[in-house]
Amino acid sequence: MRWFSNLKIQTKYNIIVSFILMALLGINALSDYVRQQSLVTRSAVDNARSLAKQIVETRDYMSSVVRGEPEHNYSLVPQVVATQVAKRITTGSNYYVRQVSLRYRNPDNRPDPYESTMLRRFAGEGIRETYEIQKIEGIKYFRYLLVMHAEESCLECHGRYEKAPRFVQERFPPGHYSYNYKLGEVIGAVSVRIPLADLYKKIGLNLKRDLAVVSGVFLLLILLMGALIRRAIIDPVKTVSSAISSVTVTGNFKERISVARGSSDEIGELVTAFNQLMEEMDRKTKQSHEAEERYRKLIEIARSAVVSFMEDGKIIIANKRAEQLLGVARQDMLGVSIFDFIEEGNQLREGIGEFIRTGKGGGIGETQPLRVRSVTGKIMPIEMALSVSWSEDKAIFTAILREQGD
Ligand code: HEC
Repeated sequence: MRWFSNLKIQTKYNIIVSFILMALLGINALSDYVRQQSLVTRSAVDNARSLAKQIVETRDYMSSVVRGEPEHNYSLVPQVVATQVAKRITTGSNYYVRQVSLRYRNPDNRPDPYESTMLRRFAGEGIRETYEIQKIEGIKYFRYLLVMHAEESCLECHGRYEKAPRFVQERFPPGHYSYNYKLGEVIGAVSVRIPLADLYKKIGLNLKRDLAVVSGVFLLLILLMGALIRRAIIDPVKTVSSAISSVTVTGNFKERISVARGSSDEIGELVTAFNQLMEEMDRKTKQSHEAEERYRKLIEIARSAVVSFMEDGKIIIANKRAEQLLGVARQDMLGVSIFDFIEEGNQLREGIGEFIRTGKGGGIGETQPLRVRSVTGKIMPIEMALSVSWSEDKAIFTAILREQGD
């Protein structure tokens, strides 16, 4: 996760929020899908059930009123009437309605494998209806079966051969398996089949629309929150960090950041703390500048040459007398090594080195006779008093060079 912590806040925010968004959309789509699917199944069951009921009612009605009519008109056989009515109701739709039986008279009513299985289950398990979604040749169908039991009225044509009307006897010889049903026995089932394609198309459409709406709302929310975060956190933090960078480069502690109106939150506190820090630094540098100035003035009026230098010998401060003694203008002296002006320069360098290493020796706090060599090559004997002071862990050496005879 190192790469992640290296990202900008805005990017992090975008990544996290996108993940949340996708998860939420996924959950939403899934629950939507499940809900709509159960809705579709329920409406399919309702449709199939009422269709099957219609058939059963039609057939029962016909069965109870027909007497000898089918004798002359086969179309009035109750089952034939019911099937024709169902066919008419469902014309123009992709619905399919049949009455099937394991012991069929009309080959058109022969059950397909699924229907056969269900008919056997009806007989064995005593259930009234079944439904499921089935794929046939790549097309999904909702399939529904409602059981039919042999009633008293049915046995007239489906009971014993001897009792059956002549037109039935003529068509179906004795011993045909469509006879000899017992009262209450499963005689067949109404089978309804509805292609799910249309219903699914409807689900798909709804899902897409729902998703579009929800994504739109989420997107708006994300953009709004992103803008808020940028305004409230990212932009102010950028301002503070760029102010700090500019201070580091310029060393100018005058920099201040204006606190946004009424912003007393954590960001406001940060800005205030930054401004206080700048003020404090500004005051400190001013103080140290003043101290330096006082020191300069003080050594300026000293009668001896005074030179301050770092441990490597580089001169940082020198007074007027030093200028005269060494014969160099002050600005040319700064940064030049003091060891170059002293005959015993190497000895002095070693002494300073020793002092830095051990904190002792090097002639610190002592006065020693030395010879100074000015730029013109003139050699003069002097007495050098050497002292040390510390500034931020760095030793600053101050040498007072007294000319002999002063
Ligand atoms: C008047 C005689 C008659 C009566 C009453 C009768 N049926 Fe039938 N039934 C037939 C005939 C004839 C067929 C064959 C129809 C065809 O050729 O499509 C048939 C077919 C069926 C079929 C379709 C399977 C097949 O054999 O082709 C079922 C299921 C069925 N009848 C159930 C019933 C039930 C349940 C009742 C009672 C409510 C009933 N029938 C009453 C004569 C009758």
